[in-house]
Amino acid sequence: MKTMKAVLIHQYGSPEELKYEDTAIPEIQPDEVLIKVMATSVNPVDIKVRQGHDKFAKRTFPVILGWDVSGVIEKVGNKVDDFTVGDEVFARPNVARNGTYAEYVAVQAKEISPKPVTLDHLQSAAIPLAGLTAWQGIFDHGELQAGQKILIQGAAGGVGTFAVQLAKWKGAYVIGTASQDHIQFLKELGADEVIDYKKEKFEEVLKDLDVVFDTIGGDTQLKSLQVLKPGGILVSTVGINDPDAVKAKGIIGKAYMAQSVPANLEQLADLADAGKIKPIISEVLPLEEVRKAHETIEKGHTKGKIVIKVA
Ligand SMILES: NC(=O)c1ccc[n+]([C@@H]2O[C@H](COP(=O)([O-])OP(=O)(O)OC[C@H]3O[C@@H](n4cnc5c(N)ncnc54)[C@H](OP(=O)(O)O)[C@@H]3O)[C@@H](O)[C@H]2O)c1
Repeated sequence: MKTMKAVLIHQYGSPEELKYEDTAIPEIQPDEVLIKVMATSVNPVDIKVRQGHDKFAKRTFPVILGWDVSGVIEKVGNKVDDFTVGDEVFARPNVARNGTYAEYVAVQAKEISPKPVTLDHLQSAAIPLAGLTAWQGIFDHGELQAGQKILIQGAAGGVGTFAVQLAKWKGAYVIGTASQDHIQFLKELGADEVIDYKKEKFEEVLKDLDVVFDTIGGDTQLKSLQVLKPGGILVSTVGINDPDAVKAKGIIGKAYMAQSVPANLEQLADLADAGKIKPIISEVLPLEEVRKAHETIEKGHTKGKIVIKVA
């Protein structure tokens, strides 16, 4: 059996459950490729799965977390025509399967896309999950158009930093919420206004917005209803808390799970190569230290993404 280094969990629980060990290199199916993982990144879903809030799959332990990858194709299945050994690709692999905290991952060819040419693997690995979530949230579900006003709740986070840049690229007027330390960089990233949610009540200073993109939920989401125009769209990455309140306000509420859509990945790669968007990376850690990334992200105040260097 050929083995690789990976970070595994043998049961659900705290970050202590993340163990750096040897495990088997995954076998590929005819429609899959084996990717040599150069880099991955950590997302809140990794933490939710690790903790056992696992609505994504019935899993068999040990489980490998991590659902972002940038790497090089090592092997291709005999039904794969579009990719070849040596191609540099990035992807958000299927969250129901074993992930990317590993030297190799098996991914369906229909889930991968060439990585941005101008970005290295560390930068590219920061894009797929958060970038797809932002793209699909504000464009497919939020239906954001040029000239519209959007509020991005959680603008400084992994998803929020892409949402700010994509909304700006689209030609929208972009308002974000963040704490004091993150205000300046968000303005530099393209936000027209940033509200310090710890000092100011956004619901008292904003009104008649077209779209709210909510990555926070709870009270923040409920108060967001007050700032939308009738017929405005509330789109949330964390579910709609009170559908009756949304309906009563004459607002359209949408919750969604981001999908792995290579066409969207290609659009993100093109925008990155054109210098229109860039991943915001607050920290790069080696695979052995992925636990530290979990501990940081669990606190809920990470700026942009934490990337894991694998090779
Ligand atoms: N449905 C889906 O398909 C999908 C996909 C991806 C993510 N998600 C979910 O979406 C959520 C966000 O993901 P993420 O990757 O962006 O998380 P993240 O990177 O951990 O987000 C952290 C950010 O949230 C900000 N924040 C915390 N409390 C806030 C508040 N009250 N108001 C405004 N900003 C606040 C922090 O900014 P400050 O430090 O400035 O406070 C920090 O920058 C997670 O719950 C994740 O599970 C869902």
